[in-house]
This record gives sequence, C-alpha cells and structure tokens, in this order.
Amino acid sequence: MGKDVIVACDFSSAEKVFEFLDKFTGRKPFVKIGMELYYAEGPSIVKEIKKRGHKIFLDLKLHDIPNTVKKAMSVLSNLDVDITNLHASGTCRMMEAAIEGLTREDGTRPLLIAVTQLTSTDQESMENDLLIHEPIDKVVMHYAANAKKAGLDGVVCSPLEAGKVHDTCGKDFLTITPGVRFADGDVGDQKRVMTPEQAKLIGSDYIVVGRPITAAEDPVAAYERCVKEFCD
Ligand code: C5P
Repeated sequence: MGKDVIVACDFSSAEKVFEFLDKFTGRKPFVKIGMELYYAEGPSIVKEIKKRGHKIFLDLKLHDIPNTVKKAMSVLSNLDVDITNLHASGTCRMMEAAIEGLTREDGTRPLLIAVTQLTSTDQESMENDLLIHEPIDKVVMHYAANAKKAGLDGVVCSPLEAGKVHDTCGKDFLTITPGVRFADGDVGDQKRVMTPEQAKLIGSDYIVVGRPITAAEDPVAAYERCVKEFCD
C-alpha cells in the first residue's frame, strides 16, 4: 500500500457515517473506524463499509494480557480490515501474541500498528501519572523499536516524530500520523499539527484526517485537497 489519506469517521451511528460516505462518488476514501462508531454499531459496520469498497483502519487500540489480545485479534482477523492497532505499552509479549492471533490460517493478516504514547500524553503527565522519567521522545522511539522487534508493521505517531521513527526503525516501517490541519484551517484541540504537504515532506506514510474533512462545508473538496497535497 502506498501513501494515502485516511479519513477518521468519528460518527456515532451507521446512519451518520453513510450520509457522509454517500457524498464520495469518485475516489473512495480509506476509512478509519474508531471506538465510538464500532461500539455503537458493532462488527456489521466494518463489513458494510468494506462492502462499499473502502479500505479500513480499525482503530480499537487493544491493550490487555497477551492471551486476551491474541484471542481478540483472532476474532478481528475475520473482519477483513486493512489495518488495525494496539498499545505498544502492553509489552513485546502482548504484541507478539497479537500477531499470532491476527494471522489467518492462510498466513495473511491485516497490517498491525502500535500506538506509542498518545499525543494527549505529555512529559508532565507521563512522569506524574505513569512514573516514566525518560524524555518522551526517547520513550516513543523505544516503543517503536519494540513494535518493530515484535514484528509489527509500524506506529501511530505525531507527524513531528515520523522522520525520527524512520531513522530508528527503517523507511519501510510505517508511520501513520494524525494531527493534520490545513495551513488556513482551524487547529481545534490538536496541539502539534502539520499540513498534509509538510507531513508528506517529513515522510509520513499515511495521514489520518478527521474534522478538517468531516466538518468541512464541502467534505469531498477537503478530502481531495488532502490527497492532492499529500499523495500527488
Ligand atoms: O478530527 P481530527 O483530525 O483531530 O481527528 C484525528 C483522529 O486521529 C481522531 O480519530 C483521533 O482519535 C485520532 N488520533 C489522534 N491522536 C492520536 C491517535 C489517534 O488524534 N495520537
């Protein structure tokens, strides 16, 4: 899979997400289904969106004991998504178990991506709440290296970290980066942002874009602008 724009479909119901996706009559966006939509609608929403011809990133961020994650991944492997994910903080053993569970009998599996430190976690909360006293950059790179060692395909990270992740883990190790905004757009609650064009220059493999597309007056035009800036 090459560079692509993944649209974060953070909607609360099937009705709302279909109303949104129906607007796209040309190129079909790669869709991210997160916890909100998945918990509201269950596995059927994944199957229905897939049936409409979209690639899917199922963003459920699993984190539990290795055996539980293995079994959950085994169930998710039946959904035929293109990408799914987990928390690297669940340890290397959990990540290895996840790969085992996700791999189908014929040896195929969706891409598996690790969340390192959420972009909502900063140095202060990491030290005070998690008692991790290393610099956050070092923690992110260490978790990325663990994910690579466990056999995962890449990490979700801030676009500002994408270059360094590639330096540490190799250029084929995927970086999926949220926190993308247009140069003339609203930043909202995202703090460290980049434009699609900057994310491309720094080497992100996929950008995840939510509100700049879903809340735009013309979502299809906003999506096409992202594709033009990031993929062309
Ligand atoms: O609307 P916006 O473009 O901010 O959406 C970004 C999407 O990426 C959301 O679905 C959010 O949950 C997700 N995300 C993020 N930061 C992370 C991981 C995921 O913004 N570190």
